[in-house]
Amino acid sequence: MNTTRSDLTAALKNPLFRRIGELGDEMQMPVYVIGGYVRDYILTGAPKKDLDFVVVGDVIPFVEELVRRLGVRQYHIYRNFGTAMLHYRGFILEFVGARKESYARNSRKPRVEPGTLEDDLKRRDFTINTLALGLNQEHFGRLINPFNGLKDLHDRIIRTPLDPDITFSDDPLRMMRAVRFATQLDFDIHPQTLEAVGRNRERLQIVSPERIIDEFNKILLAERPSKGLKLLFETGLLDQFLPELSALQGVEEYEGKTHKDNFFHTLEVVDNIARTDTEGNLWLRWAALLHDIGKPASKRYHPKNGWSFHGHEFLGGKMVPRIFRRLHMPMHRDMKYVQKLVQLSSRPIALTEEHVTDSAVRRLIMDAGDELEDLLLLCEADITTKNPVRKKRYLANLQAVRQKIKEVEERDRIRNFQPPVSGELIMKTFGIPPSKTVGEIKDAIKEAILEGEIRNDFDEAYRYMLRLGKEKGLEIKEK
Ligand code: CTP
Repeated sequence: MNTTRSDLTAALKNPLFRRIGELGDEMQMPVYVIGGYVRDYILTGAPKKDLDFVVVGDVIPFVEELVRRLGVRQYHIYRNFGTAMLHYRGFILEFVGARKESYARNSRKPRVEPGTLEDDLKRRDFTINTLALGLNQEHFGRLINPFNGLKDLHDRIIRTPLDPDITFSDDPLRMMRAVRFATQLDFDIHPQTLEAVGRNRERLQIVSPERIIDEFNKILLAERPSKGLKLLFETGLLDQFLPELSALQGVEEYEGKTHKDNFFHTLEVVDNIARTDTEGNLWLRWAALLHDIGKPASKRYHPKNGWSFHGHEFLGGKMVPRIFRRLHMPMHRDMKYVQKLVQLSSRPIALTEEHVTDSAVRRLIMDAGDELEDLLLLCEADITTKNPVRKKRYLANLQAVRQKIKEVEERDRIRNFQPPVSGELIMKTFGIPPSKTVGEIKDAIKEAILEGEIRNDFDEAYRYMLRLGKEKGLEIKEK
């Protein structure tokens, strides 16, 4: 961690900081770079592209002059809010006038009035985000650290600068942000701050689903999402927006038989995916998160066989659109992708039990389509058994499925299956209008290909179609 004075001046190497400071001097306004830029620079030494500035004084004329001097062409000035955003040489610069803010209880609308730098810093979320670096000549590079944020950064602690009940009541989204920062940075939440999250959890209800999910997605995309998911569960935040997931927690026992805790199993699966999916496919992580979501509703106990969750994939698949709609998440491609993976999540494993026949593999390839590789990754991640013999056997089985898929694909070109004989051709050949019969013939051809009775090829499918027509008493009108 870089925390010496000279290192922090090094954080301001870009001449942009000097130019902003000079303007502050000319207009007699103190100006600071604050928040994430300072925090991440101290933590990693890498300068962020998002820069937040606080100007003590009237920020709008300050920004207008800066825009003119730098020749910035892309910018927005929000006069009503006293903020501005500028795009400049790959950076995003945000400006705000130092202010005091207070929020009325059931509203997100703040009452705002001008304030000092310290007023501004103390209404921010966490001490690690209250560090500021001076940009005016007189204090260029000086670290302003009124809430001991530097020590918390060293000690890896998330803590609110004020009484946490006040900070969270100003903006309850900050409870999600506490968990998000703890997960991304692998920090601990200070016990008093953590207790306040639990106490204020229900206040999350006044936050829009979009903002909640924005933070939640960052937790899912972290290196070890389970850390955040556990915190969300323990504080009761998870119940506020995704109660279906907390419902997975718990182990029931009947006649001495238990089942696994599906919540903690799910967390392991998400962590496993985070390890293999280094590119950060958010929706694959969502699929891992929801793959067992249908289990509570499908749980049964049979005296002979013990616990079962028959059909949980189907039920889970039906729950996915409801969850996505409620949380205002993208309903089309992304929801369908997650739903498909949830619905198919047990198929490759089931295959291994019925010794991987060609026809079962063909069906899987066809049903999974472009999602086949992601589905196999999910299945591998789903193996969380602590029994090394079983683990080895499951992995070997999946390997066998992969091998078989490769063979079948090379031979049968079944992925993204297009029927070799079209409905048009069936109608023309037998001189029949669009009807149930056309669909039946098409389906029968598809089945025959999947079962391996005929090859996925036009000539064989055409001959098969003629045979089917004859069986149905149809006459050939056009060859
Ligand atoms: N902030 C806050 N309360 C919020 C959101 C933001 O107090 N609900 C403050 C924090 O001081 C934060 C700054 O506004 O540092 C900028 O917010 P944002 O850009 O969201 O966060 P960063 O700290 O820059 O971190 P990241 O880029 O990782 O989101």
